[in-house]
This record gives sequence, structure tokens and C-alpha cells, in this order.
Amino acid sequence: MAKILDTTLREGEQTAGVSFTVEEKMKLSKMLDEFGIEMIEVGHPNVSPKIEEFIRKVVKEDLNADIVGHVRAVRGEVEMAVDCGVDRVAIFLATSNIHLKDKLKMTKEVAIEKVVDCVQYAKDHGLKVRYTPEDATRTDFDYLIEICNAAIGAGADRISVADTVGVMQPHIFYDLVKTIKTNLRPVGIDVHCHNDFGLAVANSMAGIRAGADCVHTTVNGIGERTGITDLSQYVVAKSVLDNEKLKYDLKMLKQISSYVEKITGIYLSPLMPIVGENAFTHKSGVHTDGVLKNPNTYEPFSPEMIGTERKIIVDKFTGRKAVKSKLDKYGIEASDEELLKIIHEIKKIGDERKIIHETDILDIAEKVLGFKAVTIPTGVDAVLLLRLEAHVYTTSVSRKIKNMHGVEKLYETSGDDDIAIYVSLKNVAELNNLIEHIRSVPGVLSTSTRVVLKKYGEINGNSC
Ligand code: COA
Ligand code: ZN
Repeated sequence: MAKILDTTLREGEQTAGVSFTVEEKMKLSKMLDEFGIEMIEVGHPNVSPKIEEFIRKVVKEDLNADIVGHVRAVRGEVEMAVDCGVDRVAIFLATSNIHLKDKLKMTKEVAIEKVVDCVQYAKDHGLKVRYTPEDATRTDFDYLIEICNAAIGAGADRISVADTVGVMQPHIFYDLVKTIKTNLRPVGIDVHCHNDFGLAVANSMAGIRAGADCVHTTVNGIGERTGITDLSQYVVAKSVLDNEKLKYDLKMLKQISSYVEKITGIYLSPLMPIVGENAFTHKSGVHTDGVLKNPNTYEPFSPEMIGTERKIIVDKFTGRKAVKSKLDKYGIEASDEELLKIIHEIKKIGDERKIIHETDILDIAEKVLGFKAVTIPTGVDAVLLLRLEAHVYTTSVSRKIKNMHGVEKLYETSGDDDIAIYVSLKNVAELNNLIEHIRSVPGVLSTSTRVVLKKYGEINGNSC
């Protein structure tokens, strides 16, 4: 099984809008270590004092994972990495003509000299060394081999094949990695695949198949531009599609993803593979019927495997099995005829609005069955005051909440609270649902609720 180098703390922090605190980085390093990651790339020590502080701190943690510092091919930066006490250093210098000529303004010969000098220095100071030919996939092949073999000769034990602008396709990358491996002196090979065309995971898998033995990932696939190989997608694909027995604690995947979602403020699309909100959500009647009979009918692997749960949605696409499963949850019995009436009403509402809540289903069931299944007081207005985590972009949270069922007005405020929301709902159960829903939004630290007893006039002000 190939190793994983996770670079959420280096590549991931290069994502637009993302900056981690030292505490957040420490917590994530420990989570990744517990998960079983073999190498954690922790950043460039010279980028900022806090990054240096974190690197000096994490090396003292005695994690199982190797701690990898990332530096340019600049002697002073290598010295700094050595001084920080990292286990490994990754030295990068681009090799493609465009990078050498237009960006670095460096000849091919000088580039080789710089790489050899830096690799040798790190090696002489007891570090394991990776050399990354940045933009390797757009580099003249013969030069790529020449500079990598020079780095290996100087003491590099790993070469990272960087698809820096994500232009590879699996069959092409497979051939490239295979040929690189054949032409290099014996060395470990990493693959670092950017996701500009959405092919990062597929290319990484192809690279491993071709003989690379380490994949670079980030949690939630974050990174420069559109990011790199997503950790969850890669490991679950390896486990399920390649049927590999992995040593990682896959049950931690959802938790790790949610933590990174929270500390980055970058919210996952519900459609995100593996960890997205919809990955195990079933909606149409035919699908929910199948899943209730055997989850395998519409799930390629079980949600428990990554530490999450299945959801069944009830709306106008619903059939009898899904509704019955909801009623069973509340111990409500209905005959076939009553069930059809309930479904008829659900479809009517479903045609009128987007979301149907469990409380709607209970209301309908009560009407059709002619008794009170659950007693719920009706008509509740409330003001919810929200506090957000530090470093969370308030507007990104507002956008998530403003269209939730029952939200009438939303204000971003100064003072102790960050957001104030006026909500109007049918009953306390609905209010409860809404509060739960808001609490699950990453970045929300706390909510406090004021139920409205009397209302005078209208509420004025800007809402978003
Ligand atoms: N090795 C050596 N030099 C490199 C290099 C490499 N791998 N990659 C780029 N450079 C050079 C560029 O040619 C440019 O040099 P120039 O100033 O002579 O034109 C310089 O590095 C980058 O420009 P700039 O960022 O303006 O330089 P700086 O000295 O002010 O800052 C950093 C350098 C590294 C401290 C700063 O860019 C930074 O904090 N970067 C964040 C980390 C980062 O860029 N990571 C990318 C990882 S792929
Ligand atoms: Zn990268």
C-alpha cells in the first residue's frame, strides 16, 4: 500500500481565504496522526512567524507521522528547516521551460546546481530529503530525468512528480510515472496532483498504479486554485474500488472533514463525493424503497465506514416505504389506504415548496388519522442570536442560513453576537428543527433563543 503525505497544513493553507491558527494546526496534526497518515507536510518555516512557531511546536509532539518542512531551493530556507527540527525537508524548484525562463529567470544548469547544493546541505544535516520538480508534467522529459537524478545523487530519497497545473489525464500520467520510475535511480516517488480539471484523484490513482509509492492529499481537497487530491475520496476509492486493506481509521474521515470545513470556513457542496451532505441521502421513492430493503442497492459503501449516517428525504418524489419508515420512527400506525392519503397530501405540499420537514409529515398524519400523534404548541416567533468561531467569514454563514425554512430576517451585527435572526414557525418542534439545523452549520459556535411574546409594529432594517 502506498503512503499518504497530507499537506492540508501547507498546500491547504495556500487556499484563498484560509489561514489556520497554531492551535488549529496542532489539533489537525494530531487528528491526521491518529487517522494513520505517514507524512504531514507542515509548511514553509520562513513564510511567517506563526508558521515557524507551529513547526517548532509540532516536531516536539512525537507524532508517528514524519514531519515534512517545505522550502524553496534557497540555502537559507533549508537551514531554517534544519533548525526547526523537522524529520524531512521537501525542496522544490520548477523545471518546465516556462517556469525556468519567465518566472525563475534561471538556466537549466544553474537550477541543477541549486538543487544539488540544497539537497546535499539537508542530507549532511541528517534530514531525509524530497526534491519536487515543480511543473514536472510540463517539463522536457530528458531534463526532468537529469535534474532528478542529480538530486538523488546528492542524497534525495524521494522525488515528487508534481502536476502543478493539473493537466494530466490518468492514462497519460500512468505512462509518465512509469517511464520516470524506469529512468530514475532507485528512489521513492510521490505524486502531487492538482485538480484544475477535476482529475486529481483519478490521476493520483493512476500514478500509484504506475509505481509511485506516496500520494499527496489535503482534507476536502483544498489548495491553490481548485486544490489537489481529496484525502477522503482517495482513501475510500483505494479501499472500495481497489479493494485494498488499509491501515487508516476510515471512521474518522467525516469528523476530520467537518473540522477542516469549520476552520477554513469553506463549506462543502452537498454533492461532494464521500463526505458531502448528500452522499448518503436518498430521495426518490424507488431509491428509498431499495435502500430500506438493502442499502447496497443505492450505496457503493456504507456510511458507517466513514463515520456518518444515511438520510431518507420525504417529499413529492416519495413512495410508501419512505413515509412508512418515518411514521414507524414515531410509532404511528397507518393502514395502506391511510398511507396513500398521507402520501397524496405530502405530494401536494411538495409541489408547492422545496423542503418538507418531519413536523409537516406528522401534521399530515394527524389530520389523516384523526388523532394527535404528537402534541405540539403552534405558532412560534423567535429571535435567535448566533456567535461564530473566530476567523469565520460571517457572510458565508449568513448565506447558508438565510434561506432556511422559517427564517424571515437576518442581520449581521456588532457586539457580542455576530448574527441576529428573526424566525417565524408553526410550532416549537419546527423551531427546534431549525435551531438544530443552524447549529450544524460549520462556524456556528453557539445559539441563544428569545421566544417572542408580543409584537409591536414591524421590524425594520436591512436583511440579506
Ligand atoms: N526556489 C528558489 N526561488 C524560487 C522558487 C524556488 N523553488 N520558486 C520561486 N522562487 C523565486 C521567484 O523566482 C521569485 O524570485 P525573484 O524575487 O528573484 O523574482 C521569488 O522566489 C518569489 O517572489 P516573492 O514572493 O515576491 O519573493 P519574496 O522573497 O518576497 O518571498 C516567500 C518569498 C517564499 C517568503 C513568499 O513568497 C511566501 O511567503 N510564500 C508563501 C509560500 C509559497 O509561495 N509557497 C508555494 C509553494 S508551491
Ligand atoms: Zn501544489
